[in-house]
Amino acid sequence: MKTSQKFVLVIFGASGDLTKRKLIPAIFRIFKSELLDEDQFIILGVSRTAMDNGQFQSRVINSEFLNFKNPESVITERFKNKIHYLSLDTSDLDSYRLLSDKLDHLCNENNIPHNFLFYLSTPPSMFEIIARGISNYNLNKQTKGTFKRLIIEKPFGYDLKSSQILNENLHSCFDEDQIFRIDHYLGKETVQNLLVTRFSNSIFEPLWNRNYIHHIEITAAEQVGVGNRGGYYDASGALRDMVQNHLFNLLAMVAMEPPVNMDADSIRNETAKVFQSIKPFTSKNIIRDIIRGQYTSANIGKNKLKAYREENGVDSQSKTETYVAMKVFIDNWRWSGVPFYIRTGKALPTRVTEIVIHFKSTPLHLFKNDQQNVDKDNLLVFRIQPDEGILLKFGIKIPGVGFETKSVNMDFHYSDYSDIYIPEAYERLLLDAINGDSTLYPRSDSVEEAWKIIDPILDEWKLNKNLKLYGYPAGTWGPENADALIEGTEVKWRYPCKNLSNDGIYCEL
Ligand code: BG6
Repeated sequence: MKTSQKFVLVIFGASGDLTKRKLIPAIFRIFKSELLDEDQFIILGVSRTAMDNGQFQSRVINSEFLNFKNPESVITERFKNKIHYLSLDTSDLDSYRLLSDKLDHLCNENNIPHNFLFYLSTPPSMFEIIARGISNYNLNKQTKGTFKRLIIEKPFGYDLKSSQILNENLHSCFDEDQIFRIDHYLGKETVQNLLVTRFSNSIFEPLWNRNYIHHIEITAAEQVGVGNRGGYYDASGALRDMVQNHLFNLLAMVAMEPPVNMDADSIRNETAKVFQSIKPFTSKNIIRDIIRGQYTSANIGKNKLKAYREENGVDSQSKTETYVAMKVFIDNWRWSGVPFYIRTGKALPTRVTEIVIHFKSTPLHLFKNDQQNVDKDNLLVFRIQPDEGILLKFGIKIPGVGFETKSVNMDFHYSDYSDIYIPEAYERLLLDAINGDSTLYPRSDSVEEAWKIIDPILDEWKLNKNLKLYGYPAGTWGPENADALIEGTEVKWRYPCKNLSNDGIYCEL
């Protein structure tokens, strides 16, 4: 939807990777697709690095992430002129006068009201001080019908306590409705499509409960290791990095009750209720229901894949988990007794995020089939990425005598619609923040509720030295013990592809 707002987007941490990889390309695409006019916005990059406008412009424009067919084109040139830069010591509260002056100047020169979006793409240790610096010069005050919004990158806190302190500190400078906490998974089209599939189709809702669903799997597999983010990741690990936010938010989308309507509060009330209903983890079920792992080196064909402990910035004795699989229960009327199996890991065989709804078997197995038992095979798969789409698996009769059965796929791929462009998560999220719509941004209570579930696990891992951290060779599907987490012999994780092939080529979906 085209926005009518005029604003300045102030990006703190502008010399960092996220700015050139995601933020500038997202705004450029919004601009290019004419959802934003040239006279509506200014981008102001802020960071410590000494640079002038021209240097900053070429850094973000000439990057491979913008992927211009023609960097000299008129549209690129017009976009480039919207980009400004200010070098600032963001830890010095007095230096924010420079920011205030710069914003006054840019607004006057470009006829833009004092509508500011402050995007904090900095290390989390800077969040509070930047919020203070901004409010020191009243840049947080929404006077004369203007808006001031704070967009915060993850991680939001390190545990429950730190997230509460961060919320308190931010709330002393900004009201909750001015704060937009990023979880980029919520910006993914296919995640939003979950809500549409569930709540706009009457055929699914009657089945969406403990009576018809046997269990649900949520997988976010990454093929890459930690790359150059070892320093950050080693202090974080998969549980904090992926589960507390992205995977829990996917869980909330699948498990939530229908909201009373599609406004931000109604949806966020329902997601908060899911987190409140998750059965708490205790010492006993942490040992039984959670498996953690770390990738080890592997030789695949001619390629040697590094162990996690050999990555840059990672402690050579590190005990940080790069893989987590867990069994979660939601103790409410709809889901009581239905296990949700969640897993995520780095250096796995492929990149895939999917949610698999496993329906219960029919009460009687009328059609016996030696090859396959289709009764066990009713699946609804939401492919979040890549190859976005939905797959329904069901049984059919094989033509011919008797009643031989077979499982077949009804498969929808977004890519079949060549005229449909799937926007990047950051495009959607930035547009929403510009329009003041916080539906896809986690609220403070949800973030804290999610940490309440994670905290006991972190404590147990820290205190109980007997708890194992399993190794798994890079390029495999994680520790084998994770298979034991899924009950019984009939129920297994879905493996969208096998381990890496021998010639070292990662398999495709
Ligand atoms: C980020 C994590 O939030 O999400 C990364 O910090 C992870 O470690 C990334 O790689 C995954 O995002 P996506 O969109 O590539 O699945």
